[in-house]
Amino acid sequence: QLEIYFGGLHGVLPKYPVDFAGLERRAEAAMAPSLLKYVQGGCGDELTQRRNAEAFGHWGLVPRMMVDCSARDLSVDLFGMKLPSPLFMAPIGVTGLCTQDGHGDLAAARAAAQTGVPLVVSTLTNDPLEDVAAAMGDTPGLFQLYTPKDPELAASLVGRAEAAGYKAIVVTLDTWVTGWRPRDLNESNFPQLRGHVLSNYWSDPRFRQMTAKPPEEDVAGAVMTWAGTFGKVLTWDDMPWLRSLTKLPIILKGICHPDDVRRAADAGADGIYCSNHGGRQANGGMAAIDLLPDVVAAAGDMPVLFDSGIRSGSDVAKALALGATAVGVGRPYSYGLALGGTEGAVHVLRSLLAEADLLMAVDGFPDIAALRAAGAVRMG
Ligand code: FNR
Repeated sequence: QLEIYFGGLHGVLPKYPVDFAGLERRAEAAMAPSLLKYVQGGCGDELTQRRNAEAFGHWGLVPRMMVDCSARDLSVDLFGMKLPSPLFMAPIGVTGLCTQDGHGDLAAARAAAQTGVPLVVSTLTNDPLEDVAAAMGDTPGLFQLYTPKDPELAASLVGRAEAAGYKAIVVTLDTWVTGWRPRDLNESNFPQLRGHVLSNYWSDPRFRQMTAKPPEEDVAGAVMTWAGTFGKVLTWDDMPWLRSLTKLPIILKGICHPDDVRRAADAGADGIYCSNHGGRQANGGMAAIDLLPDVVAAAGDMPVLFDSGIRSGSDVAKALALGATAVGVGRPYSYGLALGGTEGAVHVLRSLLAEADLLMAVDGFPDIAALRAAGAVRMG
């Protein structure tokens, strides 16, 4: 922050905007239209997507004074990992395309390496999950599974993730079928995306065994392949099978109802990921942040990851105050990647953390435990 202020005094402005609105405006001007539509868009008229962000406005933090906050500790524990901050990068499929060279997944992984902010790596990466893991350095990665219909392919992907050193498996539950996304449906041509393939699954031995024909040369073909291959309909009866695939912690993504949290705990899940997919999958739902308190209450000792609508450091702080163990962002770092690759993503993550850190300093919360103990108040 001081660096930015001092830079300003000498006429040097930050290279990228430090707020989400500014970042999004810059991305709108810079990104190829179909890529922008894919990242920015959501389900239906995007009411849930808007609500996700707006709902943070009716939660308020109450400052405390005369607390020594000259040093803040933003670290959190997650499955035995001591993370330097509570922030993580949510899984973004096809992130590869957010950078010009088609290796946006590697750029995101390098941003993880530089910031210590973990990356949840989507099944739909442009680079093999092993390469993405290697680019993360010492920062831990989590692997997000879109569950294939073929059980051997599921086992293969999870086994590869485990061997590559990922620390947990995040199973996404709300995307066995793709939601109704008018921006994509109305203009679903991706001319500038030609030449990119989703190497993560093309590099999988089981996938190659199942697929006689050579890799498609364009992303549309790859997406069609994905639609046919993934999208297993999961029920609670599948939990023992999922459990049998790995010794790693299993986190269920998309859980928003407290009864489902209890079901998940009974079924042997290790963590809950409260999210409505950033409003991309179903419209008409409540804002995810409004669902978080009941999810946390039902989760007991299970960690609760949260995303959907985080746009600022104060949003991060509010989600933590409402009981999230760790807080994810999707679109914000995708815009960062699109504007400046690793450097852009690092800028976005550092801006979010700097704002959260300063808020904690001013409001009298020396660490995340203090923030959580204080809670947030619902207004209106
Ligand atoms: C996503 N999301 C997502 N989730 C997942 O589990 N696997 C995936 O491959 C993807 N792909 C994806 C692509 C794009 C372009 C976006 C914007 C989102 C959902 C993502 O993990 C996260 O839940 C939301 O992005 C969080 O909301 P915000 O931060 O974008 O508001």
